[in-house]
Amino acid sequence: MVEAMLVQIVETVAFDDQKPGTSGLRKKVRVFQQPNYAENFVQSVFDSLEGYAGDTLVVGGDGRFLNREVIQVVLRMAAANGFGRVIVGQGGILSTPAASHVIRKYGAFGGLVLSASHNPGGPDEDFGIKYNIGNGGPAPESVTDAIHARSLTITRYKTLETPDIDLDAIGTHDVAGMAVEVIDPVADYAELMETLFDFAAIRALLGTGFTISFDAMSAVTGPYATEIFERRLGAPAGTVVNGTPLPDFGHHHPDPNLVHAKDLYDRLMQADGPDFGAASDGDGDRNLIIGKQRYVTPSDSLAVLAANAHLAPGYASGLAGIARSMPTSGAADRVAAALGIPLYETPTGWKFFGNLLDAGLATICGEESAGTGSSHVREKDGIWAVLLWLNILAARRESVAAIMADHWARYGRNYYARHDYEAIATDRANALMAKLRDSLATLAGTETPAGAVQAADDFSYTDPTDGSVSAKQGVRILFAEGSRLVFRLSGTGTQGATLRLYIERYEPAGGDLGLEPGDALAPLIAAAEQLASIREFTGMDEPSVIT
Ligand code: G6P
Ligand code: ZN
Repeated sequence: MVEAMLVQIVETVAFDDQKPGTSGLRKKVRVFQQPNYAENFVQSVFDSLEGYAGDTLVVGGDGRFLNREVIQVVLRMAAANGFGRVIVGQGGILSTPAASHVIRKYGAFGGLVLSASHNPGGPDEDFGIKYNIGNGGPAPESVTDAIHARSLTITRYKTLETPDIDLDAIGTHDVAGMAVEVIDPVADYAELMETLFDFAAIRALLGTGFTISFDAMSAVTGPYATEIFERRLGAPAGTVVNGTPLPDFGHHHPDPNLVHAKDLYDRLMQADGPDFGAASDGDGDRNLIIGKQRYVTPSDSLAVLAANAHLAPGYASGLAGIARSMPTSGAADRVAAALGIPLYETPTGWKFFGNLLDAGLATICGEESAGTGSSHVREKDGIWAVLLWLNILAARRESVAAIMADHWARYGRNYYARHDYEAIATDRANALMAKLRDSLATLAGTETPAGAVQAADDFSYTDPTDGSVSAKQGVRILFAEGSRLVFRLSGTGTQGATLRLYIERYEPAGGDLGLEPGDALAPLIAAAEQLASIREFTGMDEPSVIT
C-alpha cells in the first residue's frame, strides 16, 4: 500500500465533454493533452468504482501516440488511489481482446484499455480510454453513466510524484509501494488460442501450400499475428504484413475494411493471389475476412462461423446461443433457427453481449462493424475470428468461395451494405433522425421502390439477464420477406455526427443468390432516400464510405 503522506491531491476543474460513447471516451489527441484532461477522466473512473483497494488493475493499449504517457499517468493515479497491483503489457501494448483475457485470467478488478480502435493515430488524430470491468468486458451503461456524472462534478484527483517506470522491461517494478508487473502481451493470449483451435490441423493445411496473408495495419496485432501465424502455425515469414505497431499506424487508417485495407483486397482478388486474407484494426478486436476472389461480409462471417464452429475443439460441444447487434444482418438468425438455439438481438456496442456471455446464454457474438467473438473473452477478437476461419478451412478443405456458396444455397443470402455519411453537422443529423422518428406511426403502408413498408419502430432492448432497458437504439423500417433499412447515428465518431444507413435484402435458398450487392439493394437505397431525405439533411449526394 502506498503511504498516505506520498499522495498528492491536485485541484482540477471539470470538463463538460467526457461522456463515454459506444466504446469509451474518444477524443482528438490535442483534447487529451489539455492539462488534467486524462487525469480527470481516470479519477472519474476510479471514483465510480467501489471495493478495489489492494486489488489488481490491468492497463494496456494499442501503442498509438500518447499511449506510453497516459500509462505512466494511470500507474501513478492507480497507486495513489489504492490499487494493490497493476499488470501492464510490455511497451504499453495489449490488444483489446488480450486485455480482456488478462483481466479474466489474473482475476483483476478491471482494466483500462487505451485506444481509439480503428481511428487514426498521431498528434493530430485520436486517442481513447475505456474502462473494462472484472469479467473482462466493456463497462455497462450504469457504470459509464456514473463515470460521466462524476466527470461533471470532479474537483480533485489523486496522484504521486514518482519517476516513470520502464515499460519495456518485463518483470516487477515499484511505484511508491504498489507493484507494477510488466508482462509479455502475447504469451497468455496465444496460449488461450491453442486451447480453442486445432493448431495441428491448421499447420497441416498450411503445409499443403494453402497461402494466407494477414495485414496488421501497423497496429497492435502485429506481434500477436507474427507469433501465432508465423511462429506457432508455421506460415512463411512475410505472411504478416505491416506487422510493427507504429504510433501513427504509418499514417494509415487502421480500419480493416475494403477502403482502408485495399492493398490486401486487391491481392486477394487476383487468381494467383493468396487463398485467404485477413486484417485487424488498431486495437485488434475487429476483423476483415477475404477469400480468394470472395469477400465475406461481417454479417455473413458471423453466420458461417456459427454454422461451422463445432469443427473447432473449443466449440465441439455446440453453441448455447448466438447474439448479434440489431443492424447486423439476419443471416445468423437462420443458422440459429437451423441449430435450434436462441438468437439475441442487442443494440450496437460489444458491451451488450457481456451479460449474455456471462449468463451462458450466448456462445458466439457478432456485429456488422467487423466484430466477431465468443465466450473466451468479453471483447470482440480479430485474431480469434481468423483462427476460427482457418480451423474451419482446415477441417473442410474447401475454398472460402465454396463455403460461402454452400452456405447461401442452404440458408439463403442476406444482401447487405452500410452507407456512412461522416462528419455532418450534429443538428442536421439529429433533425433527420427526429423527422424519421416522428413519422414512425404513419410509415406502414407507404409505397416505395422496394415495395410497401410493413412496419417501423425505434429499437429498444431489454436485457434478459437484468431487465435493464436501452431505448432509441435505431430506426428500423421493415419490408416484406426480411428486407429492411436501419438508420442510426454512430456513437464512436470524434467529429460532428455520422449517419449510418444499413440496407439488407433477403433472398431465400433457390432464389437469385449471385447478384451484385449494389444491384440487389438499389430499390431499398432509393426507398431510404424517399423516406429520410438523406441528401437534403446531410447536404451530401453520396455516402462517404460504403462497406
Ligand atoms: C466499436 C464498438 C462496436 C460497434 C462499433 C460501431 O467498434 O466496439 O461494438 O459496433 O464501434 O459503433 P458505431 O456507434 O460507430 O456504429
Ligand atoms: Zn477496435
